[in-house]
Amino acid sequence: MNDNIPQTIAIIMDGNGRWAKQRGLPRTAGHKQGADTIRTVALAANELGVKKLILYAFSTENWKRPEGEVGYLCKLPGLFFNKYIRELMEKNIRVTFAGELERFPSDTQKVINRAVNDTSHNTGLELCLAINYGSRREILLGIQKYADEVKNGRKNDLTEEDFSQYLFVPEDIDLMIRTSGEVRISNFLLWQLAYSELIFTPVAWPDFNKEELIKCIEEFQHRDRRFGGLTK
Ligand code: IPE
Ligand code: IPE
Ligand code: MG
Repeated sequence: MNDNIPQTIAIIMDGNGRWAKQRGLPRTAGHKQGADTIRTVALAANELGVKKLILYAFSTENWKRPEGEVGYLCKLPGLFFNKYIRELMEKNIRVTFAGELERFPSDTQKVINRAVNDTSHNTGLELCLAINYGSRREILLGIQKYADEVKNGRKNDLTEEDFSQYLFVPEDIDLMIRTSGEVRISNFLLWQLAYSELIFTPVAWPDFNKEELIKCIEEFQHRDRRFGGLTK
C-alpha cells in the first residue's frame, strides 16, 4: 500500500442476514456482529488517515422488512454508541450522520445526537452513519430547499459544486465498497458516486476487517482514475 489513501470511502455494509443464516442464527445476530465490524473498520480507517467514512446502515427501503428486524435495526445505533462512544472519543473520531433521523425511536435519536455533539471537536476520521438514508430522497430534499431559496430571492445560478452543499453528504466519494457479493448501488449516494472507484467484494460485512479494507485500498491504488480525461 502506498500513501495514496482515498480521502472519502463509502461502504454498503451488506450480508449480515446471510452471514447469520449460514450459522443457523437469527438475522439479528448478523446485525449485532456487523455493528462490531463498524468499530473495527472505523478504527482502521482512522489509523490509515482516511478523512471520511460513510457507512450505509439503514436505507429508506429497509422499512419494508419484518417489524422485528426493523425494530432491532432502529435500536442498533443506540446500542453501538453506548458501547463504543468512549473509544471513538479517545481515538479522536468525529461522528456524524446522513438521513432523516425523525422516524427512529426517540431514545436512539438522543444517543446519536449526543454522539454527534460530544465528538464535534474531534479532528480525526469523520465517521458518518447513513441511517434512514435514500439518495433519491436526499436529492429531492436538496431540490426543495434550493427552490425555496430561489422563491425567497436567491439568484438562480446553481453550479454542481453548489448543489452538493444541499445534500446530506456534500463530498465526492473516492472509493465505494459493497460487501457480500451484490453488484448494485441500492439508492446510495447517487450524485456523489459519479466518479468513484467501485469495489464489490464477496466477503460478508460481519467478516470484513482491517485486512480486507487494506486490500480494497490497494486495489483502489491500482486503478487509473481519468475523470473523463486522459491518463497523465
Ligand atoms: C445489511 O445486511 C444490513 C442492512 C441492510 C440493514 P442485510 O440485512 O441486507 O443482509 P442480507 O443481504 O440479507 O444478507
Ligand atoms: C442496502 O442493502 C442497504 C444497507 C446496507 C443499509 P440491502 O440489503 O437493503 O439492499 P438490496 O435490497 O439487496 O438492494
Ligand atoms: Mg442485504
